[in-house]
Amino acid sequence: MNILGIETSCDETSAAVLCNGEVQSNVVSSQRCHTLFGGVVPELASREHERLIVAIVDAAVKESNIRKNELDVIAATAGPGLIGAVMVGLSFAQGMAYALKIPLVPVNHIEAHIFSPFINEGTSHAAPEGRFVSLTVSGGHTLLSLVEQDLSYKVIGRTLDDAAGEAFDKTGKMLGLPYPAGPVIDTLAKMGDPAFHLFPRALTSASQSSKNYQGNFDFSFSGLKTSVLTWLQKQSPEYIEVHKADIAASIQAAIVDVLVEKTIAVARNQRIRAVAMAGGVSANSALRKAIKEACDKADITLYVPDALYSTDNAAMIATLADLKLSRGMKAERTYNNAPYASFTAGARRA
Ligand code: KG4
Ligand code: ZN
Repeated sequence: MNILGIETSCDETSAAVLCNGEVQSNVVSSQRCHTLFGGVVPELASREHERLIVAIVDAAVKESNIRKNELDVIAATAGPGLIGAVMVGLSFAQGMAYALKIPLVPVNHIEAHIFSPFINEGTSHAAPEGRFVSLTVSGGHTLLSLVEQDLSYKVIGRTLDDAAGEAFDKTGKMLGLPYPAGPVIDTLAKMGDPAFHLFPRALTSASQSSKNYQGNFDFSFSGLKTSVLTWLQKQSPEYIEVHKADIAASIQAAIVDVLVEKTIAVARNQRIRAVAMAGGVSANSALRKAIKEACDKADITLYVPDALYSTDNAAMIATLADLKLSRGMKAERTYNNAPYASFTAGARRA
């Protein structure tokens, strides 16, 4: 089975080819045009995808050594995402599937992140036998889900306000860092002291105000943002400049502590011994280290994607389509009639 995956939900234009479940190519182009604006400008994102999509798909197919007419299925992100950006990739996929007379499988972007730790490059591990807890942390989402063997999942915790990636990006912007600030904070924090300043950890055991934190698997990061802003306003620009790495490390520690504590709490609460972490923020080195230590201590097996597959990529889109098809799910509808059924219906809200 040869699957072409296409991802254009935000600011990465990506295409990948999967042959019998194994990644043959994964080409990603990250848009740099947004840096100047401190965040993704939807209209610019759509135009960049439109400009690059043909070249990126061609490059992925060429690198895979598969000819276009050997493709069996095209899988494309159908949302959630910036609607104009999604439409570029999905319409392109629809046209290509029509031309090649093969089915189009629409894929939910967040579901694809959830299963990204199981992307197979020939070396990766298969999905665990049994249920697992998924921590999905990206620029737009922060979710804790229980994933069943049949690939269905139930969201049991989510952010009440900002996503974890947003917390990185917005506090980083306050520190004068470029967008996206997450990876910059990650690098800066390596030279800083995480105990330099204690920023709030909302809805956790460390939070004085949330006595009922146990069994509450939701997150809140907007208070952290306000706390960083008001604290920075009280410091001189010179002090901030001298302690930039310490501040970055302290912000990062506040985010990481919450993510790790909640994830382990869910696994304990549900008596599940497998955790899979995914999404752009899962590339964070401090988070990777802390969650690994916590999982080891709690005798939980941890699955994390290669950092390459933490941020948006098309290999995860093709992989989820492959997982579903290999478990007997049919690409029921093709390009002829709105093909959005079954593949976006996996999520069950708690
Ligand atoms: O999954 P993703 O590529 O796109 C969305 O679906 O949102 O996630 C992007 C987010 C951004 O907020 C970015 O700052 C964050 O992931 N990110 C990181 C790191 N790499 C990416 N955050 C912290 N540390 C990193 N190393
Ligand atoms: Zn994403």
